[in-house]
Amino acid sequence: MNVRATAIAIAIVIAIGSALSSAAWAAPPLEVEDPMRGPTPIAEETNPPLISPIENKDIKRMRTYSMQPPTIPHKIDGYQIDKNYNRCLACHARVNTEETQAPPLSVTHYMDRDSNVLAEVSPRRYFCVQCHVPQAEAKPLVSNTYEDIDVILKRLTAPASQKK
Ligand code: HEC
Ligand code: HEC
Repeated sequence: MNVRATAIAIAIVIAIGSALSSAAWAAPPLEVEDPMRGPTPIAEETNPPLISPIENKDIKRMRTYSMQPPTIPHKIDGYQIDKNYNRCLACHARVNTEETQAPPLSVTHYMDRDSNVLAEVSPRRYFCVQCHVPQAEAKPLVSNTYEDIDVILKRLTAPASQKK
């Protein structure tokens, strides 16, 4: 290709490119409806729903998979967790569980990232509410199609006549 042909080829590429990008600019704004804020336009304030009461039934919820941090079945309002004090450990630390009857932390909470078991709760498991959360009886904001592995296994091992 001589210099002139190359220049023409580059000009064509630039022309197509700018035609495509101006087409993108001209497209009408995408109608996005965020299920968490509803149809309220981004520039306006939403009317937030009331905060649902926190469940405090002391009944353990099933874990959805075995490595799920169990949800907290009691209120944690006002519980202090900072470098000076950890209210959760006042009940859940191994040494306090006889008195409090709270389930003790499992061994993973004493393990560092190399799986060495430490004498004290590992720093990476100190801030409990990073992983454990209380629950509220509220409608899920975002739906999902998650299926428990047991449900899947049952379906896979069901006799052919019962398979859907
Ligand atoms: C006053 C004692 C007390 C305090 C403080 C406390 N808990 Fe509990 N926790 C319990 C008891 C007792 C249970 C057993 C179920 C019940 O009675 O609610 C429990 C249950 C749990 C469970 C469920 C375990 C499972 O196997 O399902 C989790 C998770 C939990 N607590 C996390 C926390 C976290 C995180 C904090 C701090 C924000 C905390 N708890 C503070 C006493 C306490
Ligand atoms: C990095 C995430 C993480 C943090 C932080 C964490 N946990 Fe857990 N916790 C888990 C997971 C995952 C499980 C379930 C599997 C397991 O035992 O490791 C669990 C299990 C538990 C259980 C049930 C134990 C059992 O044997 O049934 C209790 C009680 C608990 N955690 C309390 C706490 C408390 C109290 C803290 C704060 C001191 C805390 N956790 C911090 C992830 C975490």
